[in-house]
Amino acid sequence: MKLSTYEPDALAPGIRRLSYGLFCWLNRHIVVLRAAGALLRRWPSIGGPFGMVARASAVKDVLTRTPSFSNTAHAANMVSGDYLIGMDPGPTYTADRALVRERLDALDVPNASDEEAKRRIGILDSGDRSFDLIENYLMWVVFHAMKPLFGSATDAVVAGSADPAAQAAVDEGLQRQYMLEIRYVAGQLLAGSLATLDLRRRAETCGDALQARIDRVTGPIGTAWGVKSASQDIERNAVGLAWISHPVTVQSGALAVQELLGRPKVYEKLWSRAQSLKDRVWTDTGFRKDVRDHVLELMRFRPIFPLLARDVPRDTELQTGARQNAKCPGGGKVSLLGIAALFDPSVVSDSRSFCPERDWGSEDPLRYLMFGYGYRQCPARDHAVDILTSALIGLLTLPRLQLARGEGKAITYDGPLMLSMRMRIT
Ligand code: HEM
Repeated sequence: MKLSTYEPDALAPGIRRLSYGLFCWLNRHIVVLRAAGALLRRWPSIGGPFGMVARASAVKDVLTRTPSFSNTAHAANMVSGDYLIGMDPGPTYTADRALVRERLDALDVPNASDEEAKRRIGILDSGDRSFDLIENYLMWVVFHAMKPLFGSATDAVVAGSADPAAQAAVDEGLQRQYMLEIRYVAGQLLAGSLATLDLRRRAETCGDALQARIDRVTGPIGTAWGVKSASQDIERNAVGLAWISHPVTVQSGALAVQELLGRPKVYEKLWSRAQSLKDRVWTDTGFRKDVRDHVLELMRFRPIFPLLARDVPRDTELQTGARQNAKCPGGGKVSLLGIAALFDPSVVSDSRSFCPERDWGSEDPLRYLMFGYGYRQCPARDHAVDILTSALIGLLTLPRLQLARGEGKAITYDGPLMLSMRMRIT
């Protein structure tokens, strides 16, 4: 479903600005959200009447009861049209899910992400000792790792043209332009219905531009994918894959690095190990596994989706963990505090500590809750973790890093999204 720019706003302008400001502030100060989550976890009957769940058991329960709690809650925030993540199960969902799995099978991670990380680190190391983590590094590592999603049609997608001359003109400037366009489309999924109207309009404009760009190149995409589907099927999947794959992974990487730099001892330990491995830093399997464990633990502290929503299609009940189930009237919504479930001490040992080597035992699937849970979990989970692992290994090969404070803000935001993170090589 596409939002209309001319829809009258249901919220008073002041209330909208205030609630959006609060939402962005909470995203940046996730400790506050975690504290609120801890309260709801402790007293689940408070959240129940508002359709809020925080205990790990309750969050898992909602995410696995897919007929009762529907993903269509995402649909209103998808400014470039319908896609898998906002669909109810059915033939289109099944076909799209099979297509995304096939495209993900074409990825060559971690080889491709290692290769681009090494290349970018080489450039940064010989540069002027300061760089933007997002613009000069993460964006490109993720972009190159994701290239097989569009395969031979990548340049056509970036150029927005099936003309070989236009594709030959694709350079980093055009690639960057494309990545900015998809960033605002993905940003709307995060900001949701709270976003101010001007931000929603910007997201819609970028969503329209993305649709138009893909519309012009469904031919090359169909050829690259080896499918003869109707062009609207190719378009829906290509548009969806474009915005869902890249920006979320880049943002998750930036959040993970921010969290790591905020833990100097953890960073120092990992950095020293990387330095002592020298050339073997990319090939040592034990070290890669440890970095991967760190990525997951950093993401636990800084999940890009700390909350998830579900629609309630018909009357049902919610097990919040309180003595009585909460009523969920049909037509309503429920909010899942994944951030609280990831810290639930009843299932996560020593949950408040930063502990990459934690043994999750039978709760191992919960460890990946930042990618959702159960059948609707992110199909790119392992690919994304591998890419972020490559990116982090690359950063650990540089001399020590710190946020470039003292020259204005090191981190700039656009709503809940990080726009830039300026770093200094010391
Ligand atoms: C670190 C990066 C990523 C994170 C944190 C992430 C997170 C998530 C989450 C939380 C969901 C479930 C949403 C829900 O249940 O409501 C999801 C679903 C999905 N993700 Fe990702 N994702 C990431 C990267 C990617 C990439 C690279 C792709 C590329 C193909 C992708 C494709 C999808 C798709 C297609 C779905 C919908 C699955 C379904 O509904 O069946 N994600 N992702």
